[in-house]
Amino acid sequence: MGNLLYGKNSNLNIQKCGVIGCGAVGATSAHTLLGSGLFNEIVLLDINRKKAEGEAMDIGHGAPFVKPVNIYAGDYSDLSDAYLVIITAGANQMPGETRIDLAEKNVKIFKSIIPKIVEYNKDCILLIVSNPVDILTSVALKLSGFEPSRVIGSGTVLDTARFKYLLGEHLGVDSRNVHALIIGEHGDSEVAVYSSANISGVDLDEFCQTCNKCGDRESMHQIYEEVKNSAYEIIERKGATFYAIARVVKRIAQALIRDENAILTVSSLVEGHYGIHGVCLGLPSVVGREGVKWIIDTPLDENEEKQLTESAGKLREVLEGLNI
Ligand code: NAD
Ligand code: LAC
Repeated sequence: MGNLLYGKNSNLNIQKCGVIGCGAVGATSAHTLLGSGLFNEIVLLDINRKKAEGEAMDIGHGAPFVKPVNIYAGDYSDLSDAYLVIITAGANQMPGETRIDLAEKNVKIFKSIIPKIVEYNKDCILLIVSNPVDILTSVALKLSGFEPSRVIGSGTVLDTARFKYLLGEHLGVDSRNVHALIIGEHGDSEVAVYSSANISGVDLDEFCQTCNKCGDRESMHQIYEEVKNSAYEIIERKGATFYAIARVVKRIAQALIRDENAILTVSSLVEGHYGIHGVCLGLPSVVGREGVKWIIDTPLDENEEKQLTESAGKLREVLEGLNI
């Protein structure tokens, strides 16, 4: 991939990204991106400038072992030609805290960050990772004035990965052969789509009956609880989650840059799917160079659709309570 220019005015460098927030998630994502070969320039920004500088030095010292990358601590003006701006800034959860509990603090931070990005770059893609990610994707959409396809949250891509991983472990098969989705809020109201889950085309229920590796369907449903509570369990033990989300960031960046049309459960504005309007949440979406190209109406059973509607209702309620 050459030094491609991209965007309405061809002023964006497709191989350049910014990471705003250089805490555990931002630094690990930058480190993962450095090794990905996707970028030749990575700009790090943090309200704590020294932290951004230290991370740029530490991560950058690994550059001789990967495809050449210029990684440095910069300012908002350095984002003017970045194709992708990833936002991981803001508070993370304390043990027992929910993602939604972070909304007020992190909306305040977004109110300071988003206008500064837009001042220098109106054409980039925004990838929101900070929590509550669906709420902050809606907030970023509103504050940026960007078209909805270019404001993307990491959504339930991480939850879907956890679901596949745990189902694969449970069934004794490679998680890459597990096709199953988590949709809705990245959080306590997320929805497991068991009705279409399959192992290389074999319906999950059917596979379960023949594999002799698992118990009843009920034990399979416990996996949903495990997925939903993963972050709480990890935060209780080590204070934060950052490795798997860094892989999620890389996967989404890859789908965007390579124009893969990959189907990922990212969060973006939902208008009309399943009767939901005006909120961002995770649904299987076709992701390519222009961002979210379209959202797929994956079949849901009655209960899953009800849960999804409730998840959207919860997010709408939180949004209405915020002063944006
Ligand atoms: P952290 O506390 O380690 O890092 C946050 C960083 O943001 C700090 O370095 C801080 O200085 C910086 N920051 C704060 N205000 C800023 C501002 N105005 N401008 C620039 N930088 C600013 O937290 P973390 O563990 O890296 O988590 C970051 C966020 O990512 C949290 O909201 C967390 O909940 C979220 N997260 C999301 C997912 C997901 O799946 N979407 C997964 C893990 C974590
Ligand atoms: C996660 C974060 C905390 O790991 O949202 O799910």
